Amino acid sequence: MSLQAVRYSRGRLEVLDQLRLPHEFHYDVVATRADAFDSIASMRVRGAPAIAIVASLGLAVELHNAGAGAVSGSSAADAVAYIDEALDYLKTSRPTAVDLTNAIDRLKARTRAVGDSSKDDVVAAFIEEAEAIFERDLQTNLAIGEHGAEWLRTRTDAASDDESKTISVLTHCNTGSLATSGHGTALGIIRTLRDKKLLRHAFCTETRPYNQGSRLTAFELVYEDIPATLITDSMAAALFRTRRAETNLAAVIVGADRVVRNGDTANKIGTYQLAVLARHHGLRFVVAAPTTSIDLETHNGDGIKIEERKASELTQVTGAVIRDDGTVDQARKVRVATADQRVGVWNPAFDVTPAEYIDAIVTEKGVVERGPDGVFDFSQVMPERWVAIVGKEEEQRANRARLGAKFGTAVRADTGAPGPL
Ligand code: MRU
Repeated sequence: MSLQAVRYSRGRLEVLDQLRLPHEFHYDVVATRADAFDSIASMRVRGAPAIAIVASLGLAVELHNAGAGAVSGSSAADAVAYIDEALDYLKTSRPTAVDLTNAIDRLKARTRAVGDSSKDDVVAAFIEEAEAIFERDLQTNLAIGEHGAEWLRTRTDAASDDESKTISVLTHCNTGSLATSGHGTALGIIRTLRDKKLLRHAFCTETRPYNQGSRLTAFELVYEDIPATLITDSMAAALFRTRRAETNLAAVIVGADRVVRNGDTANKIGTYQLAVLARHHGLRFVVAAPTTSIDLETHNGDGIKIEERKASELTQVTGAVIRDDGTVDQARKVRVATADQRVGVWNPAFDVTPAEYIDAIVTEKGVVERGPDGVFDFSQVMPERWVAIVGKEEEQRANRARLGAKFGTAVRADTGAPGPL
């Protein structure tokens, strides 16, 4: 069975403490919104889909156990307002991944759809929607695995009936079962490639400074029995140059924290340099992103807020003690300094890879390739949100242009805002 970041049954949520991995398996009980917030902010749970799941289910458990009586006021509208406030608080736990914002929009829409009913109905609807977000995620990842593996099969020389035609790939950060409800996104594609006998070898980067690659992905790959090699982030160029032919290295596959309208993608720091290197060495660069990681409201990567984290994540490291005989003492952890503690530190948790470096974005609805204009068009994989957001913007722009023409106000042709034509 795959690793499980989240264990849930109605009224009870347990979240695997990923800071203790790979040395120790410990599940935290998450019973309230504050517990969920703390789990996410401290990165005991991380990964864009898992963050959304834990926030949604954490509040669902609190509401289930406290009952609608905990909601001040007596009406359905009071329950909606109470839940809104809790969701707005949870939204501030980590800023870059958009899955949480999209989940919150969904949850808010669902509580409003209950209409003028009772507080209990609003709470029940919220819990059902939170559970649906959790359950849907696994199906989403399985579909991403299928679409991504098929795209790679057709875009490379990969073939399962010929050992010499299996491909190797490199991945960054952790996008597996630990970052989702199961299977994973980028790691899900790797799993599916393996299941289809198309995979020769997986390389994973260490992913400094938080080491999600060495602590989590390396662990998942070993756990799943996928042939794998760990490298430091700084070894990617040398790997691509010296071992590409020997391993039939064909692609870099990464996840996403936020893909914006033109395809620019925020993901774990270090992703951008891999994309540039992949282009230089003629490797495919593939982003695995459920549509819940797509933000159509932000036009390009300049609009993405990048989370900056504390200096100690760079200057200190925690690990299990190695005994003199080379074995690991799981019970003894130490925190050590890896730099002069007084040095200045810049620690952005994510970077933005421009769309021009991305060959394909794999969603659960299908693969979107970069268009000839250098950007991605998500209208086919998320038609409803496209019409609601992009369609509305276009309509407003056309209206402004019409009014401008009627009353003689100059309107910019590109944005529709007042200004020179
Ligand atoms: O800081 P983290 O560990 O939450 O960052 C995780 C990533 O960057 C993942 O690649 C992304 O969230 C996708 S997880 C399916």
